Amino acid sequence: MLVYWAILLEALASANVAAGSPVHGQHQGGANTPVIGGNHSASTTPFWQNYNYCQGRNLGATWSPLKDANMVKLQVMHRHGGRSPAMTVPGDTTPWYQCGNPDEFVFMNPGDRLSDKRSPFMKEMTTIDGAFAYTMWEGNCDAGQLTTFGSHQLQKLGRTLRSTYVDDRKFLPKKMDPDFKISHTYIWRTRESVENLMNGLYPLDTRRAGDTLTMHVKPSAIETMITPASACPKLAKLVSAYSSSPAYAATLAPYTAIQDKLVKAYNTTGVSGYNTTGALYDSASATYCHGLGLKGDLTAEDIQTAVIPGTSAYHNLFRQNPAAEQVKRLGVGAWLADILTSLSDRSTKLEVYSAHDASLDMFLSVVADPDLPWPPFGSNVVIELWQKKNRQQVVRIFYEGMVVPAHPDLGCDFSACPLDTLTKFVKKYIPTDFKNECAV
Ligand SMILES: *[C@@H]1O[C@H](CO)[C@@H](O)[C@H](O)[C@H]1NC(C)=O
Ligand SMILES: *[C@@H]1O[C@H](CO)[C@@H](O)[C@H](O)[C@H]1NC(C)=O
Ligand SMILES: *[C@@H]1O[C@H](CO)[C@@H](O)[C@H](O)[C@H]1NC(C)=O
Repeated sequence: MLVYWAILLEALASANVAAGSPVHGQHQGGANTPVIGGNHSASTTPFWQNYNYCQGRNLGATWSPLKDANMVKLQVMHRHGGRSPAMTVPGDTTPWYQCGNPDEFVFMNPGDRLSDKRSPFMKEMTTIDGAFAYTMWEGNCDAGQLTTFGSHQLQKLGRTLRSTYVDDRKFLPKKMDPDFKISHTYIWRTRESVENLMNGLYPLDTRRAGDTLTMHVKPSAIETMITPASACPKLAKLVSAYSSSPAYAATLAPYTAIQDKLVKAYNTTGVSGYNTTGALYDSASATYCHGLGLKGDLTAEDIQTAVIPGTSAYHNLFRQNPAAEQVKRLGVGAWLADILTSLSDRSTKLEVYSAHDASLDMFLSVVADPDLPWPPFGSNVVIELWQKKNRQQVVRIFYEGMVVPAHPDLGCDFSACPLDTLTKFVKKYIPTDFKNECAV
């Protein structure tokens, strides 16, 4: 079981990848580089057009209120922002001086840095020195740590949400409500990400002195926004079985050329644990997304394409897998229960889930068209609950700034899906007796 968990974590860590235009380039969003390769309908769905693993799309200027309806609840689930690679690849000497700015407490401080007058605060700084420093890169980032780029992505998302839901729609209050519900996972970068998001959504001058926002975090053993393989042995078994199945191998088959290119670029031929796309796509894309270059013969397009096989163990666990329906129940059912509960909670207007790419992806596997691209850095799923004049409640869901095409079995349209329809459908994926279903 420990082993399954380790595999999963590694996957999650690596699943934190993306590809797209480099951060420091001036081409953000301009690169017309759809992800092509496997069997994604790149040419037919707008989600694949200009897909950029480095930068998720936020709600755009095309957002408009539903006619004859009042908004009653907003849920924002987001991936953390750009981060350093999940692991050090032997022989890779790329330095990672991308962290520690903004200081972590940026959310209670104007600007990116602590001022001298605020000396009572303490700040965290990753320090790579000591006897074993040779096993890591040079720099000031831990593996998988939110970077300056990543922090700014989340601040920007927060500002977009403010402009839409505070300034434009006037749904959320101008001043921060300390009762907003916020949760993040036990992994550091999700905490920092939501701090930055809330800094953009509610800057210092919109907070009353003394108001405190509580961030909820579950112990790692019972986290529900990450597939709970350590709490659910049956799920751990299914995850492990999938990773060695012909179904999984089939999803990788079209991508051997890109794997060879990655392995060559990183000079890891025959180096166990570092000679697959799953192991390398993360370092390659994080490096590229932070403007730190491309190794060997890799191109910007390769980075975007490598995300498909690189994340297939997670993405297709919930899709191209004979046991996908059972995996959905055990993998995301617990979080779905939280989400449904929150939709009917009127004690606050806003619920924020600060999570991971695999979190958003497993949620989408249940409700959305199976062929949506992997969640980029800073990507988000925005769920709005509206009450129509006839009292009917409907749900609108956005991903990559666009209304999500619903799963074909769901039978509704996410520009206004009746809450009853969604609830009935989602409940099919929520076990009533987890202990029993999780037993092996
Ligand atoms: C993708 O699917 C289409 C039809 O479903 C098929 O014609 C095509 O060969 C497939 N492409 C790849 C790369 O598997
Ligand atoms: C590739 O790795 C091998 C050892 O595995 C090493 O001898 C060789 O110098 C490396 N090549 C490059 C270009 O770094
Ligand atoms: C990776 O290296 C190991 C050890 O040399 C080898 O057994 C395995 O087949 C390699 N994997 C790939 C995909 O080349």
